[in-house]
Amino acid sequence: MSSASYQAEELQDPSTLGDLISSLRSIFDSDRVNIEEVGDLLKSYKSNPRDWKQFAKFDRFRYTRNLIDEGNGKYNLMLLCWGEGHGSAIHDHADSHCFMKVMQGSLSEVRFSWPEKNSSSEGESEGKSEDETEDLKPMMELSRNLLPTDGVCYINDSMGLHRVENTSYSDTAVSLHLYCPPFEECSVFNQRTGHRSKAKVTFWSRYGNKPNVEEERPPEDN
Ligand code: SIN
Repeated sequence: MSSASYQAEELQDPSTLGDLISSLRSIFDSDRVNIEEVGDLLKSYKSNPRDWKQFAKFDRFRYTRNLIDEGNGKYNLMLLCWGEGHGSAIHDHADSHCFMKVMQGSLSEVRFSWPEKNSSSEGESEGKSEDETEDLKPMMELSRNLLPTDGVCYINDSMGLHRVENTSYSDTAVSLHLYCPPFEECSVFNQRTGHRSKAKVTFWSRYGNKPNVEEERPPEDN
């Protein structure tokens, strides 16, 4: 795409979530992800709860992931709903791009470097896989940011790891996340030991619908 045609499209700020979804689809038609362009587009949409309340499904116990759009198979766009005090584990992004925009409330984003081997035990873990026996340093915090409503951030694995938390004990929070390419599994980390484990990422709802519990049950034996 020429820079002139990019300029022409860039002038149109999305006024609804539907507009934003359309613009994201056209941006991601190209195989190259322009991080700045996507970040600017997400910033230019001013969150309006009327646009997204149909996707906002909360759980009392933990944050929820609610699928909005599969981006023609190129990315997943989802709304995350955070109850008071809810947070994610320290995690990676399975080699994907992660864009995040706060839609309501505010969210703390804490970044960490990847776990490093403890120098005193260097060599001892030779041949061992990344498992519970590895001697690693406690994970180092790199930065801490409180993102307000409409704030946008971006991370990928080369920049480190992060955890997100709604630090408010009186207000819920909602955020929009775009992962490109989509992934179904990532790693989560123990901050003290640096140990990682695999975690499946699942959806609490899809396109505004909660899965039917009956349909989710395994078939019964006759
Ligand atoms: C986050 O903390 O960045 C959200 C993780 C997720 O997609 O579940």
